[in-house]
Amino acid sequence: MRKPFIAANWKMHKNIAESVDFVNQIKDKLPDPAKVEVGIAPQAFALYSMVQAARNSGLKIIAQNAAAEYNGPFTGEISLRGLHDLGTNYAMLGHIERRRLFGENNTAVHKKVKAALQMGVTPIICTDETMVQKEVNGEIHYVFQQLMSVLHGVSLDQIRNVVISYEPSWAVGVGQHANVALAEEGCRTIRRTIADNYTYEIADKIRILYGGSVNPDNIKDLMAKPDIDGVLIGRASLDVDNFLKMVNYL
Ligand code: G3P
Repeated sequence: MRKPFIAANWKMHKNIAESVDFVNQIKDKLPDPAKVEVGIAPQAFALYSMVQAARNSGLKIIAQNAAAEYNGPFTGEISLRGLHDLGTNYAMLGHIERRRLFGENNTAVHKKVKAALQMGVTPIICTDETMVQKEVNGEIHYVFQQLMSVLHGVSLDQIRNVVISYEPSWAVGVGQHANVALAEEGCRTIRRTIADNYTYEIADKIRILYGGSVNPDNIKDLMAKPDIDGVLIGRASLDVDNFLKMVNYL
């Protein structure tokens, strides 16, 4: 049985005081961590305070990005070594906004994923897809090619320690109701890809999240789908009431 994972991606919202205040408001109202895993990805400068505020609450703290290098002359980058020291549980790698706005490509994301696995920070590998790419590729989905180039050289043992997300570009930040059938189809394609390239046993265990316009009204329908094990939530996660409704969707 795969444990549901509800993760908030706060992007470039909330300062330190707002982030900590949010954790203080929600930490006693989270679902049983044995049943549902809940995480928040704040801005990098708030990670330390968030880790402190979340202590003993079961809430996981997620980095929004990380560099492939651990040390050295990489001005402005976020080191996985530092994230590991801090007690950050996960790092989102290759988010659609990193790719679209900051030019990250599959090669860069691949290096980051390998580095995170070696450092012991669990990567949330983000995949995406545009409607055009989906249509042009027909049966062979673009997401399949993207995933396989990012996972190149990731071993059977290592793949057990990754989470994958599927965020189609037509659903991210657009405010439309997520198309539940397409969300499930994308997540199912990813699971099939893992089964074909690793094993069925691994594909059955790996957690696949859907992201794109998730909100309190559609989370139940999404989470009811067999291949959607969790969600990555942007805008709707910024409000305490909405957040609590979504993490307590069961
Ligand atoms: O990572 C989650 C995100 O990209 C989706 O954003 O605002 O459509 O929920 P949003």
